[in-house]
Amino acid sequence: MRIGVPKEIKVHEYRVGMTPASVAELTLAGHEVFVETGAGGGIDFGDDAYTAVGAKILPTPQEVFAASDMIVKVKEPQLHEIAWLEPRHTLFTYLHLAADKPQAEALMKSGATCIAYETVTNAHGRLPLLQPMSEVAGRMAVQVGAHYLEKEQGGRGILLGGVPGVAPAKVSIFGGGVSGFNAAQMAVGLGADVTIYDVSSTRLAELDALFQNRIKTVYASGAAVARAVENSHLIIGCVLIPGAAAPKLVTREMLKTMKRGSVLVDVAIDQGGCFETSHATTHSDPVYTVEGVIHYCVANMPGAVARTSTFALNNATLPFIVKLAKFGAEGAMRADPHLRNGLNVAAGFITYKAVADDLALAYRAWE
Ligand SMILES: NC(=O)c1ccc[n+]([C@@H]2O[C@H](COP(=O)([O-])OP(=O)(O)OC[C@H]3O[C@@H](n4cnc5c(N)ncnc54)[C@H](O)[C@@H]3O)[C@@H](O)[C@H]2O)c1
Repeated sequence: MRIGVPKEIKVHEYRVGMTPASVAELTLAGHEVFVETGAGGGIDFGDDAYTAVGAKILPTPQEVFAASDMIVKVKEPQLHEIAWLEPRHTLFTYLHLAADKPQAEALMKSGATCIAYETVTNAHGRLPLLQPMSEVAGRMAVQVGAHYLEKEQGGRGILLGGVPGVAPAKVSIFGGGVSGFNAAQMAVGLGADVTIYDVSSTRLAELDALFQNRIKTVYASGAAVARAVENSHLIIGCVLIPGAAAPKLVTREMLKTMKRGSVLVDVAIDQGGCFETSHATTHSDPVYTVEGVIHYCVANMPGAVARTSTFALNNATLPFIVKLAKFGAEGAMRADPHLRNGLNVAAGFITYKAVADDLALAYRAWE
């Protein structure tokens, strides 16, 4: 198959759809790979690293789309990129269509087969291509939280791990799923006093067993959340109700009880955020303060560590890219129902029921 890797064009997006190591797997298997010049430049994958593994470098995105049958990206295509898609193309990338009707309609019009990373499933009923980015965001949340607790950043002037004779910071994590678990790992590693709040008793039991008494687990009742707000120095919001807006666990009133210079990191901001006072921020202006509490609400946290994120994403996407290249989109999806769950648009129809319902667009089952 002929596979294309265009350069990402969203502001401050340095991730790339395929690393040179991933490209090598495909060229070794006899496929042709076309990479736009500079596609990996932001994270030090020069054009030479791609040519060394057999890719062809093309000067413009138009040429990459024209030369390829499958396009592998990171972020959703912009409207002018969708204009280069044809019915012969397979598109494999994050799409997040439920929030973007113009993109959904343009993809329908293109006639292309569009498989979204975020709805591909695995045998455990989880979303394996979302997981790496939740891992990155969870781990980063502690790093940024520790940074903004420093006095110079407007924080309370607290070291997360404390020192001998001085108590560590209290870190509360709301939601103990993938990102919450990874945040807890980092916070425990730094010596903080960590509590995870969740509404799933099963998950709380798993976390209790995993951390072997190194964290506390608490059922996330309204009263427990209110107490956490009053007592914590750093709160990390990692809740998710799949397919729905994040529940607002912390109100503005509750925030008034939090210590001045404390920090909220709202990882769940891409689903609207779990603090009433959250609004999405960017890496160029990541924080703002409400009621004396610093809010960090960057919606694409993994973009800040684009190199790590690209490797993590490729580890998860490569097995699917290899199948798509070997069997074609139709053959690969017939053989793998989990990949088939990633299909969002095909032959002019929305093929993912929840997206069609959310956007009131025509749905047709792929079969
Ligand atoms: N900001 C970013 O850059 C970034 C990056 C990756 C993921 N995310 C987002 O982070 C969020 C969490 O993702 P995840 O992969 O960790 O989800 P997950 O499904 O693995 O975990 C979510 C957890 O929240 C718990 N939960 C649900 N309702 C709750 C409530 N009311 N109180 C307490 N806990 C509750 C669930 O039981 C579950 O354990 C998602 O919105 C995801 O899109 C953001």
